[in-house]
Amino acid sequence: MKVLHYKIQNLVKLVSLPLQNSYMTETDFVLDQYSQIDSGSHTWSSPSNIALVKYWGKKDNQIPANSSISFTLDNCKTVTTLRYSKKDHADDFSFEVFLDGDKKDSFKPKIETFFKRIEAYVPFLRDYHFVIETANTFPHSSGIASSASGMSALALCLMSIEKELIGANVILSEAEESYFIKKASFLARLGSGSACRSIEGDLVVWGEHQDIQGSSDLFGVKYPFEVHKNFKNYQDTILLVDKGEKQVSSTVGHGLMHNHPFAEERFKQAHDNLSTLINVFKAGDLDTFISIVESEALTLHAMMMASMPYFILMKPNTLEIINKIWVFRQETGSKVCFTLDAGANVHVLYPEAECEQVCEFIKNELVAHCQNGQYICDQIGFGARLMKNE
Ligand code: PMV
Repeated sequence: MKVLHYKIQNLVKLVSLPLQNSYMTETDFVLDQYSQIDSGSHTWSSPSNIALVKYWGKKDNQIPANSSISFTLDNCKTVTTLRYSKKDHADDFSFEVFLDGDKKDSFKPKIETFFKRIEAYVPFLRDYHFVIETANTFPHSSGIASSASGMSALALCLMSIEKELIGANVILSEAEESYFIKKASFLARLGSGSACRSIEGDLVVWGEHQDIQGSSDLFGVKYPFEVHKNFKNYQDTILLVDKGEKQVSSTVGHGLMHNHPFAEERFKQAHDNLSTLINVFKAGDLDTFISIVESEALTLHAMMMASMPYFILMKPNTLEIINKIWVFRQETGSKVCFTLDAGANVHVLYPEAECEQVCEFIKNELVAHCQNGQYICDQIGFGARLMKNE
């Protein structure tokens, strides 16, 4: 088997020196030589992630305005099978999408945009007809964004095709594996920014940060430093407060950070919070962790409220839950805290050691504020998994 093209000469060097990630550019991800295969299919499972330091605001080409860090989740994931078959003419993109076995034409525009953005890096897209079969482990319209898990699963399926088309060995060398993961994250980012943090686990950084070796604006990287046992198997119970469609999409929200009166301060704050977290993770400092994570969540929503036009994604029950968490913490000394994504749902975060006590509290006090009493128990996970190659 010949390894046609993984820019190996350059990459062995880059991979052995993670610091060099910051010298990688878009051109390192261009595939310019590949062979033809008639058909095949690949299945990947990829998780969602929850940001601790939030990405909110971006530059052109999905470059984040600030660096962010997230916990990769374990149970909330998307499983995607991508079937491909050679077509006669390499003209338009040709694909069909199915969600849980049902045709889902409403997903097509987003995928078409994704294909356009990534075509320069995976130029075989027009050579094939694709059937995309996707399913989420979490209920649809739960208000949980499936874009991170969905786009990362699709990006990984495309990388499996690339791997076949370049005739790579089934088992990749360390340098090739590292390139595969980086490019999957790079492609996922072009589908949905935060999706680039879903390929690996359990803590992933995206966006260049002076204190974090190897961090890059182009893809997510595993958090490279020591993490105290307090943060191992961290729990995330997602309270489904509002399962409706968001009134303002993330894309519009990111856009409103342009000319936002507090944007520059906010980007600096995110950067500083990530610096502080390095010591927090090392020392197992749960109190500082709580104050950074909760401040990040509220600042994200404060940015929305201070945008022009302004908007609010939290609901009354979001605030009820936050207040109850604060009271519970004060009364019991628990280290439970909350974070929010761009919606009304609340992610309740707590150390594994507090599972029993916090689950009781959630059932007794918080579930009443969830729509139809629904919530999802999750925890930190370790990233995407290849399920099948055919
Ligand atoms: O990846 P996007 O464009 O859907 O933006 C995600 C933004 C937040 O979830 C609010 C924050 C984050 O860092 O994930």
